[in-house]
Amino acid sequence: METLELIDKVHDEDRQGEPFAPIAIEPNIYKKKFYIESYGCAMNFADSEIVASILSNEGFGATKNFEEADLVLVNTCSIREKAEATVRKRLTEFKKAKQAKRGMLVGILGCMAERLKGKLLEEEKLVDLVIGPDAYRTLPALIQDAESGQKGVNVLLSREETYGDIAPIRLDSNGVNSFVSIMRGCNNMCSFCVVPFTRGRERSRDAFSIINECKDLFDNGYREVTLLGQNVDSYYWVDEQKDMVVTFAKLLEMVANISPLLRVRFSTSHPKDITDEVLFTMARYENICKYIHLPVQSGSTRMLQLMNRTYTREWYMAKVDRIREIMPDCSITSDIIAGFCTETEEDHQDTLSIIEYSKYDMSYMFFYSERPGTLAARRFTDDIPLEVKKRRLNEIVKLQNRLSQHSNFADIGKTFKVLIEGNSKKSENDWAGKSSQNKVVVFPKASYNVNKGDYVNVKITSATGATLLGEIVE
Ligand code: 5AD
Ligand code: SF4
Repeated sequence: METLELIDKVHDEDRQGEPFAPIAIEPNIYKKKFYIESYGCAMNFADSEIVASILSNEGFGATKNFEEADLVLVNTCSIREKAEATVRKRLTEFKKAKQAKRGMLVGILGCMAERLKGKLLEEEKLVDLVIGPDAYRTLPALIQDAESGQKGVNVLLSREETYGDIAPIRLDSNGVNSFVSIMRGCNNMCSFCVVPFTRGRERSRDAFSIINECKDLFDNGYREVTLLGQNVDSYYWVDEQKDMVVTFAKLLEMVANISPLLRVRFSTSHPKDITDEVLFTMARYENICKYIHLPVQSGSTRMLQLMNRTYTREWYMAKVDRIREIMPDCSITSDIIAGFCTETEEDHQDTLSIIEYSKYDMSYMFFYSERPGTLAARRFTDDIPLEVKKRRLNEIVKLQNRLSQHSNFADIGKTFKVLIEGNSKKSENDWAGKSSQNKVVVFPKASYNVNKGDYVNVKITSATGATLLGEIVE
């Protein structure tokens, strides 16, 4: 009860325009302090907020200083080797802090915990707790085990866990936009990807708990929610009486109907699953943002087959056409992998040309990194030399930068409805916010009486590759 009152207080302060502080602002009422650091995808950041909620019920308050924490947690990512290397380095730093503070516990959460299981605890003695993505409810018991000198490990994956009933505690929030997890796990078997092994089978969260969370956010001043899942388009929920089926399109509509002032985004879509019904729902609601993250991975049908993506180059291009036909102003972004097993120069050229065809506003671009246990690691040889992977990646990045810049320059002279998120990074005299298309827009505060969380119309006057600059218009 105490915790809930405190959370309300934080939100109240936020509504008055104070910078949002996590629950650490009144640490004295808590018996102990925890520090949490998150890596990887948005899903992981959303999970850390569930963990914060579980811990606050146990009397833990958040701190931003790991050296004073009783419990240090790292929510980790396994998607590429580099992500894991970063976490390992950080864990050795925490090990030192642990030596300086008696009784401090260090725990690893998330995908790396799932993948490496007891290894970090037993062989490398880097951590006291290892907890997989479906085991966060057991955290309090595992902390007790670790405090009494036993091993605190739970990496069991579940077919049901969605944490649907747990109200997340927002960490590091700007009080305007928030992630809302709608499903967990993944049933796609992309051959390069470790996620099905670290996050288990796909399951959808109770639609009503999603709506309640979004309503609650709106009532607390939030103006944008991003519905999260590894593959949101396969969201599917049937209520207990089996008289109501909620598809992703239906869920989008339910969230959009909370208020026209609440913007809705979602991530990530699999090109094979995004339906016309979703596209038409997006087009029908002004507050569903015109933005689709539609990872292509490769532009070569042969590569796509090896990657087990279940679509061809032509099929993907037709999907892009369909999006543009239904929503001409929709922004499309992508994930791209350079140098997957056996990739030829011709395959690489196919990737470059599909990027050009799709005119992505932005892409996340990677070179292939083999992950142990994946289908690709078992079936194919990681045979593209690193320098070739890097060169191809460079070519992809260069092309994408050109397209992003071109897209931003094409916006000069246009007016966008922008949701203000806070001060711009560079100046307190400027606001920063986002357009429906997810582009960052920066503009002078001037004498307008507006605040973060407000919508304003901004006319774009200039642009860089990453930002649109403009002025408020009536
Ligand atoms: N190597 C490189 N990139 C990868 N991704 C997933 N697995 C790998 C891997 N083994 C990329 C994909 C995915 C994004 C989240 O990370 O592009 O969409
Ligand atoms: Fe990383 Fe994937 Fe796990 Fe997210 S789900 S943390 S991207 S491995």
